[in-house]
Amino acid sequence: MKANPGGQIDLSEVVGRDDVIQQIWDILDQQSICINAERRIGKTTVIKKLRAEPRDGWVPIFQDLEQYHTALDFALAVYHEVERFLSARQRTSRKTRAFLKTFGGTEVGGVFRLPQFEAQPPWKELLSNAVHDLVDEQEKRDGRPLFLWDEVPYMLYSICSREGEKIAMEVLDTLRAFRQDQGDKGLRMVLTGSIGIHHVIRSLKGQNYANSPLNDTYSLEIQVLESTSAIDLATKLLKGEALRATEPSQVAEAIAQASDGFPFYIHHIVKALKLSGRDATRESVDQIVTRHLLAPNDPWELNHYRDRIPVYYGKDNETAVLGILDGIAVRADPVSVSELLNELKGMGVRCDREQLIGLLRSIEQDHYLSRDDLGHFRFRFPLLQRWWKLSRDL
Ligand SMILES: Nc1ncnc2c1ncn2[C@@H]1O[C@H](COP(=O)(O)OP(=O)(O)OP(=O)(O)O)[C@@H](O)[C@H]1O
Ligand SMILES: [Mg+2]
Repeated sequence: MKANPGGQIDLSEVVGRDDVIQQIWDILDQQSICINAERRIGKTTVIKKLRAEPRDGWVPIFQDLEQYHTALDFALAVYHEVERFLSARQRTSRKTRAFLKTFGGTEVGGVFRLPQFEAQPPWKELLSNAVHDLVDEQEKRDGRPLFLWDEVPYMLYSICSREGEKIAMEVLDTLRAFRQDQGDKGLRMVLTGSIGIHHVIRSLKGQNYANSPLNDTYSLEIQVLESTSAIDLATKLLKGEALRATEPSQVAEAIAQASDGFPFYIHHIVKALKLSGRDATRESVDQIVTRHLLAPNDPWELNHYRDRIPVYYGKDNETAVLGILDGIAVRADPVSVSELLNELKGMGVRCDREQLIGLLRSIEQDHYLSRDDLGHFRFRFPLLQRWWKLSRDL
């Protein structure tokens, strides 16, 4: 197995995800899923595996929604995918085509041409017809349609900025309506993306959006690899890259530990070892990790954890969030709310207890922090804590 950080890996090279994949299929039996997990943890890899190896009876359709910027783009993309899927089975999207013909769509020699839409395109009806065409056809064949939608929040943000919040809310409400109306016919969705979907909903709520458009879905968190899987991945990559190591199992353990179980960083460390031409030892792993954490070109894209703070929590909260993370980063032990409150006061940051608790909750939801049994806060990932300290010279 070759190191391929961030690239498309062969699905036979996916390590340590069998259990979560079985859980996902079990949950899907009852309800749709919203996957929320830290970036680069391997969400896309998991849903691509769901597509490639479906459990009996399921018919998954995978779409990366990052490239769609309007509700019509999205509806058309779903229609095209459904059409492609059905035509591979000598079927067509009957309802959708009939609907499109009323707008001037034409069929010439078996090829269907889309109409030109007016300023107010009928995206909702188009989407609804496409979903119904798929569900109806699968119902006849006892198949359960499953939409695997990646980068949903990106698309919703694009729709917000191009068409306004109202349309983004309507997209979320329309998807919820499909899950409710078509759920008993077997329809399910898995929604995910590299930005937490709760951020989109939070910003829509700021625009008076009162619904909870995902409260019918199961919120699933994908975790970092368990230690044995992380070691297994590191071992396979060390072998695949033919790295010289006198104590390969110790080196694999060191890589697993340094990476905090993120497969992305495991691939990166092995790739860097390979490029360095050095023997794989615990020391060379450690030096490579330190070099990457300090590298000005930020090869592991860690600056993202800093840059997203004003975007996630608002400019007004930026100083408080930085103060919180700085205060926790420098301590070896978990920190209580009262200690943090004092620390912020000492820094001249205005933040009362309620605000602090609210911010801590959000920061925890975004995977920076976790809590111990006493409810005290610490960095969730030691690698991130180390980088935070280095990058902020703490
Ligand atoms: N289970 C796995 N086994 C081996 N390598 C993996 C696994 N999961 C992810 N990877 C590696 O990590 C990289 C990132 O994975 P992936 O794109 O699935 O993460 P993601 O959570 O979707 O990221 P983003 O938040 O940027 O969307 C992959 O290109 C691959 O190198
Ligand atoms: Mg992804």
